[in-house]
Amino acid sequence: MSEIKKVAVIGGGTMGNGIVHVFAMNGYEVHLIETKKEFAERALNTIDKNLSRMVNKEKISENDKAATLDRIQTFLDVNEGVSDVDLVVEAVPEVFDLKKKIFEAVDESAPDHAILASNTSSISITKLAAVTGRPERFIGMHFFNPVPVMKLVEVINGLETSEEVTKTIMEISKKLNKVPVPANDFPGFVSNRVLMPMINEAIFCVHEGVAEPEHVDEVMKLGMAHPMGPLRLADFIGLDVCLDILNVLYEGFKDPKYRPAPLLVKMVDAGKLGDKTDEGFFKYD
Ligand code: CAA
Repeated sequence: MSEIKKVAVIGGGTMGNGIVHVFAMNGYEVHLIETKKEFAERALNTIDKNLSRMVNKEKISENDKAATLDRIQTFLDVNEGVSDVDLVVEAVPEVFDLKKKIFEAVDESAPDHAILASNTSSISITKLAAVTGRPERFIGMHFFNPVPVMKLVEVINGLETSEEVTKTIMEISKKLNKVPVPANDFPGFVSNRVLMPMINEAIFCVHEGVAEPEHVDEVMKLGMAHPMGPLRLADFIGLDVCLDILNVLYEGFKDPKYRPAPLLVKMVDAGKLGDKTDEGFFKYD
């Protein structure tokens, strides 16, 4: 099994800053790679705020918080940021061409022994691995939002991922106090293949006038003990992200059961994307 000490995380958005947070909090040196100084600063501020939340709840001490922040270094250049790390976790938007460009650069500059992982929620791990010269050292490491809270890491094996790499990523996930669950590379893996049709069906319920959004959510919260109803969760994930994932399922399986609800498409077209635009199925301050 490979020894992992230093990790690079590419992208400091919702998922990226959470991933940096958990690696740094669990003793790893982390390189946070962003494209602009202000994006890196915003990510650091979010991590600071979420660590303070943990200090207030007495889950960690002020010293733990300071030590965690000390372990994070920011970079604006991918090649520089990955040059001496053992693991790279990519967490940029779900656009294949963007990820392809990043992994080509990472493959060129990361040490030969480094494992390359993607936090993609649905893009094929095998297809991403194929843009690098090391598909056997490529794997999916799929975290869940909010990363510091959610226990799951879905570990996705591409066609050529080596057993040694899978073992290393399963072990490192445990060191992050997460529970790794293995899956093979199929559209949506397990998580989104099961979650997105539920969200899509909830949207069809609204579209067909079966119930109002708050009532659809109440049914699932009170009847099925979901912490958030499917429409609140869709807003939380981002309606654009939900639509992208449904399209990957629809195109990947060529099965009409994954057809995105027309209301979802309409809301994305209107720029109502959920929490990030302050309005989706619900309104936010
Ligand atoms: N960092 C650190 N701690 C956080 C946090 C963060 N970003 N967000 C919440 N917390 C902590 C809170 O401090 C609180 O701690 P205590 O239990 O010690 O009080 C705890 O988490 C619960 O938070 P809140 O009390 O603020 O709110 P809540 O009880 O309503 O829970 C929630 C919030 C954890 C988000 C809960 O509603 C939930 O589990 N929702 C479902 C989330 C989910 O399904 N996520 C997966 C989305 S899918 C995805 O990410 C992947 C994909 O591919 C699309």
